[in-house]
Amino acid sequence: APEAQALKPGYHITAAMGWMNDPNGMFQNKAGIYHVFYQWNPEAPIWGAPYWGHVISKDMVHWERMPPALVPDTDYDYDGVFSGSANLLEDGTPILFYTGVSNFSELKYYKQVQATAVPVNASDPRLKLWKKSPSNPIISQPPPDGTLAQFRDPVSAWKQDGLWYTVIGSLESCFGTAALYSSPDFQTWQPAGQWASQASVGQANAGQCVAPALAQPGVGQCDQVGAVCRMWECPDTFQLGNDTWVFKWSDQSKTRDPFAMDWYILGTSATFLGNRSQGNISSRGEDTSRFQSTLQNTPQSVDYGSIYASKTFATSDGRRVLLGWVFETSAGCVEQCSAGTNFTDSLGWQGAQTLPREVTLDMDSRALIMNPVQELTLLRSTLLYNKSAVTLPSNGSQELNLTQSSSMGRQTEIMAAFAVAANGSQGGQQPFSIGIQLSTGQGTFTQITVNGTAAAIANGSLNIAQAGVYVDRSKSGGHTNTTTQGGPIPLPASGLSVPAATLRIFVDHSLLEVYALDGRGRVTSRIYPAGMEDSWNVSVFGAFGAAPATVDASVWEMGSAFDPKQAKACC
Ligand code: FRU
Repeated sequence: APEAQALKPGYHITAAMGWMNDPNGMFQNKAGIYHVFYQWNPEAPIWGAPYWGHVISKDMVHWERMPPALVPDTDYDYDGVFSGSANLLEDGTPILFYTGVSNFSELKYYKQVQATAVPVNASDPRLKLWKKSPSNPIISQPPPDGTLAQFRDPVSAWKQDGLWYTVIGSLESCFGTAALYSSPDFQTWQPAGQWASQASVGQANAGQCVAPALAQPGVGQCDQVGAVCRMWECPDTFQLGNDTWVFKWSDQSKTRDPFAMDWYILGTSATFLGNRSQGNISSRGEDTSRFQSTLQNTPQSVDYGSIYASKTFATSDGRRVLLGWVFETSAGCVEQCSAGTNFTDSLGWQGAQTLPREVTLDMDSRALIMNPVQELTLLRSTLLYNKSAVTLPSNGSQELNLTQSSSMGRQTEIMAAFAVAANGSQGGQQPFSIGIQLSTGQGTFTQITVNGTAAAIANGSLNIAQAGVYVDRSKSGGHTNTTTQGGPIPLPASGLSVPAATLRIFVDHSLLEVYALDGRGRVTSRIYPAGMEDSWNVSVFGAFGAAPATVDASVWEMGSAFDPKQAKACC
């Protein structure tokens, strides 16, 4: 259908058809090929017993579809090959680490165990076929206070003092936790304490457990339908910089839209010897490592928009790259809603991955900065607009004349840097507001704003004291959810001194990714306006106090992630 095509993202990773959710098991193999897997239901555009879909690329921007890597077809995973990660073993062989799910129709709860798979032919750089380990499941023991009904999404393992470590999303005594496991050989795994928990990052648990109505062997207290305690899904943890560790989790207890659901906190890895007791978590004799959120007191948001289940991997040149599931969220309905009630159920496809984002650490703001990987510029095609130092009217907006392209708006990148006009220097802190408006020919528009306070310094540089980034969808029209998404941008305590305030926006049909102040604030939004097929207009606006802003703006048309003319786009 034309609408389904007009709305489907073109340069983000999507499934050919059916339902997509979490990114899984990303890695770059020895031949340099990037492999990305994802939760996929090829049978219907709604969630259902997931496969691992598979795409490959040599540059993270041009992708090629592969056959599904893992299919729910064994006695321990027939209800779904759930999320997980990947590692390169010491000899360079990739290993996939996932959660096998079974038992639902028999016992009315999902039994979750951890399993692995390796390539059928490890010397094939495309890694087309995968085989599950004959010793699966390799972990069927939940953490001490946990349950096999809420035990999933193993993290890429790391090696320390001769042992592999991983963490697995869990629910222990009604707290979301990241349970730590260790192994000498990636085969035999032992519970090794809690890497982090709701208690250890200073969060209360969601409430009381509902008394077990459907007690089943292996099912803990909080697993019944209707229980209010929620596990932590899709944790991720990795070292970034010399001593800093990042811990990230997905909080399903939050209303999924518009509030952030993917959180991270910065800390260190500490070794605990002997007993400990933490919040309501029972104490156990442990002699192991634990994440300590010593560098930050409050969790920070990965992205203020419609993303969930994000996770990272390390490229062979040492970059940390994040992908996240961008879910559909249409008017009157959040996340995937119930099957059959969401407008997007009728499109034949749902879900996408964020652009691959390079994650860097900024100790001045105690926060992560994320920007699309530099390879993304390979997708830029026609330069639709490119002007410097355009002075903006102080009480209105300036339209960029982009009418030369009829596809304008569907696949574009917009880069804008806002500075104080030369004659505009002012003393003291001034409120500022800068932004971009995307409007369709049908009179609807989406407005993206960065506002806050800044001291405008005489030489034209800015010191931003505080700022937030927002996507206002109240006038976006069509099937768009009208909520505004956004929130505060973490900044250094002494303010952010920059020549200009930047806003970089990726428009990909119904998917909008916004990067504010050089990747310090991020919002991923979905918009489903009428008239997607028509040309769009872009306008820019802004002022710093009473002073007008000037803008350097460039707009590119963007290519596509999957080129139907190139059967072997990757390699
Ligand atoms: C998160 C999640 C994971 C699980 C997967 C199943 O979106 O619920 O916890 O492994 O999706 O598709």
